[in-house]
Amino acid sequence: MENKIANRQGFSSGLAVFFATLGSAVGLGNIWKFPYLTGEFGGGAFLLIYLLCIVFVGLPIMLSEFYIGRKTRKNVVGAFEQLKPGTPWNSIGLMGVVASYLIMFFYSCVAGWVYSYVFKAIRGDFSGITPELANTQFASTINSPVWPIMWQVIVVFVVSAILISGVKNGIERVTKTLMPVLFILIIICDIRALTLPNSSKGFSFLFHIDFSRLTGPVILTALGLAFFKLSLGMGTMITYGSYFTKDNNMVNTALRVAISDTIVSILAGLAIFPAVFSFGMEPGAGPGLLFMTIPLVFSQVPFGNMLLIAFFVLSSIAATTAMISMVEVPVAYFSEEKGISRTKAVLINAVIILVIGSLATLSADGSSLLGGFTMFGKTLFDMFDFISSNILLPIGGLLIALFIGYATRKDDLKNELSNNGILRNRRVVDVFYVIVKFITPILLIIVFLNSIGVIKVS
Ligand code: PHE
Repeated sequence: MENKIANRQGFSSGLAVFFATLGSAVGLGNIWKFPYLTGEFGGGAFLLIYLLCIVFVGLPIMLSEFYIGRKTRKNVVGAFEQLKPGTPWNSIGLMGVVASYLIMFFYSCVAGWVYSYVFKAIRGDFSGITPELANTQFASTINSPVWPIMWQVIVVFVVSAILISGVKNGIERVTKTLMPVLFILIIICDIRALTLPNSSKGFSFLFHIDFSRLTGPVILTALGLAFFKLSLGMGTMITYGSYFTKDNNMVNTALRVAISDTIVSILAGLAIFPAVFSFGMEPGAGPGLLFMTIPLVFSQVPFGNMLLIAFFVLSSIAATTAMISMVEVPVAYFSEEKGISRTKAVLINAVIILVIGSLATLSADGSSLLGGFTMFGKTLFDMFDFISSNILLPIGGLLIALFIGYATRKDDLKNELSNNGILRNRRVVDVFYVIVKFITPILLIIVFLNSIGVIKVS
């Protein structure tokens, strides 16, 4: 057993830990989900609640997950089994595996749309684009029964190939090179978007706070987004934490990742909303927002098409590195708990994702092949998204917070987070402990009760 743990792969340095974790956090959540939800739910007010969720819920849970992962050096199921053998706490791990599947089903679909936009940009499909054309381009991309599935297959193929290469040669190498480039590209996008005519309207939409927009469902959505964004509540950060170096300052890593990730989201918002208002589009256009605005942002600038290609290439990379971290959850679980090889675990998961994920793809829109098939007024695609982000991740997060607050010895926590006393961070850990024990669970419970109408706070 000891041997097996000693042979386990891991990241090789603090920088690798940072970029791999950031690679998981930064993804379609920043460039696709954050802007369209902010657009749909009222701009600044939504952003404010989202930021509060990051500070009081996201950060403490991220640190909790790092602790569980690095202390046990196990996959999400094995980790709880090691800390509290044979107790109901172990179900957190299995719930995480289920959540990871639900997310992968629709995530691989949207990643496929992004990949296909790279191809379309290279082919020159966006030259002379107008807002109307951008709309029809997007609709025809997602409604075709073959095209988006073909791209979804390509996504799953790429993700699987990187995962088969392993933690160090696959995950670490890819994220370390590509994350910084993504950052620079979004800034170029911002400069262009903010110099468009009327761009200030987009700017104020993003930052102007209108409290009348805050309702129970809006707050729940902001909370769900915080979980989704920082890859929390399903054990991704437990699994990655299990690959962290022994001397990593995990409090710093959590802070840096949360801050950098939030900056990327805001930069993405600053690229998209000015364009929305400049071209007279609807901020509440829904999941197509990214795909309809970015081609327009670059439509009339020198080298516009090249920048467009670069933007979607980088978005594809962000989507890929995030997806890698999702698939790593069941891959680590299968290979460590079920005793099958890593390669086999990756292949089995690839098949599962494609079989069920293609159903998500075929129901992405009301006019898609399976778009007419709805439950509680939601298509299968929306259902996967809603159940995972708004229900399973927050419940997983609540249980993780309770686990740390009430089933973990504070001394263990202090030792692990200070690297056995080497880091002088006792105060910070004390503050973290109070937040995760009292504030995070209470906030989560209030948001839940509020969203199902049991109590009314907004
Ligand atoms: N954080 C990723 C993003 O924003 C999505 C993700 C969710 C990744 C859950 C892993 C686990 O795109």
